[in-house]
Amino acid sequence: MTSIDRSKLQQLHARENSRFISEHPRSAELYRRAQDSLLGGVPMNWMKKWAGPFPIFVKSAQGAHFIDVDGRDYVDLCLGDTGAMTGHSPEIVAEAVSRRVREGITLMLPTEDSLWVGEELKRRFGLPFWQFTLTATDANRFAIRIAREITQRPKILVFHYCYHGTVDESFAALHEGTVGPRRGNIGPPVNPAETTRVVEFNDLAALEEALKHHDVACVLAEPAMTNVGIILPDDGYWTVARELTHRYGALLIADETHTICAGPGGCTREWNLDPDMLVFGKPIGSGIPGATYGCTEEVAQRISARIHLEDCDVGGIGGTLAGNALSLAAMRATLEHVLTPAAFERMIPLAQRFAEGVAAEIRSVGLPWNVTKLGARAEYTFSQRPPRNGAESAASADFELERFLHLYALNRGVLLTPFHNMALMCPATTEADVDLHTKIFAAAVRELIEPCRGVL
Ligand SMILES: Cc1ncc(COP(=O)(O)O)c(C=O)c1O
Repeated sequence: MTSIDRSKLQQLHARENSRFISEHPRSAELYRRAQDSLLGGVPMNWMKKWAGPFPIFVKSAQGAHFIDVDGRDYVDLCLGDTGAMTGHSPEIVAEAVSRRVREGITLMLPTEDSLWVGEELKRRFGLPFWQFTLTATDANRFAIRIAREITQRPKILVFHYCYHGTVDESFAALHEGTVGPRRGNIGPPVNPAETTRVVEFNDLAALEEALKHHDVACVLAEPAMTNVGIILPDDGYWTVARELTHRYGALLIADETHTICAGPGGCTREWNLDPDMLVFGKPIGSGIPGATYGCTEEVAQRISARIHLEDCDVGGIGGTLAGNALSLAAMRATLEHVLTPAAFERMIPLAQRFAEGVAAEIRSVGLPWNVTKLGARAEYTFSQRPPRNGAESAASADFELERFLHLYALNRGVLLTPFHNMALMCPATTEADVDLHTKIFAAAVRELIEPCRGVL
């Protein structure tokens, strides 16, 4: 098997850093200026995590491409980590949103768009009742509150290395089998062991063991894990897992925020899952802030019986701007015209093309890596076989190597997510965009393992 020479990796990385700095003078200047007013020089701390010594500043974005302040054009395979899975600023959404902006943005009163969206979500996902929030994090938080309230149980259960937004309870991980704060957890309010049970994905025995305590209000899960690489469920996993949640009285919340990439109704529809609640955020309004959670008739009845009119504004569920007219107008245009079944028919084969191209290159150079795919999303990991759970996937992570490959791609006009090696297709992505990445990926790995090749 081919292996990576670390000193060569570092040399190549230093070369790519110099190229990046010399080609992005305007971004460098803005980043220097930002040090005086923005904490860490960025509007949001993750923006420091991009490959390269500073983030590139964006001038404009359209469809699958964006242009930075130095005038360079990029194929965007990150797409705002799914927030722009619709492509950037789809024309029809831009029109609906600009109309709505002139007709009232937020009122704490419903608009007719909310009904259209609720009816469409019901049709897509099969759950009858819906509510709106501004972020998927909030949707998860509120779904958890509802689960706790109606089950009167204190704990939630998540999978090791999950990510569900900045939900306190979900920042838990296993440390040699014991639950504790996840690495990097900033100021945890309590030890998450008090609020959370954590098990490995694809381990039904561990799931049953955790549910047997009868203190789990809900299992909060992505149907396939997407935030530590892509981890697909074993055949039949969800049938048994669902049966276990029923048997032990825990609700099942499907967080489809990323797995919506599987199809217009997410994995829930593709795989015939039947969650008690479902969360969907990020691209639902083409990037205009908005998210949603839906529930079954039974959950709706149980929670409605416990919420009293006089206290409904102080119960910990809601937000002043949640369900605002602008979000709903964006969601309607997105669901009606952009994230349509026809769009998925275009996007999914592109992810297949990405996966096949990268896998062929990995095979041809003999690296012990693999590529996984879920609908319109594909991802390569530095392990021989696709990981089956969070620990396996995390063990194969290689921050240094990942940063080099991302910077190499960025320097040649392709943006990947800064968190792992995910590539996402939008309706505007083309085969040429995908093939450009494959060509760059091939050049990068060949440079890594064959010292004498020229520079792309
Ligand atoms: C599966 C999943 N759920 C929820 C969220 C939270 O989304 P947001 O940060 O928009 O609240 C994320 C964010 O990455 C996510 O990956």
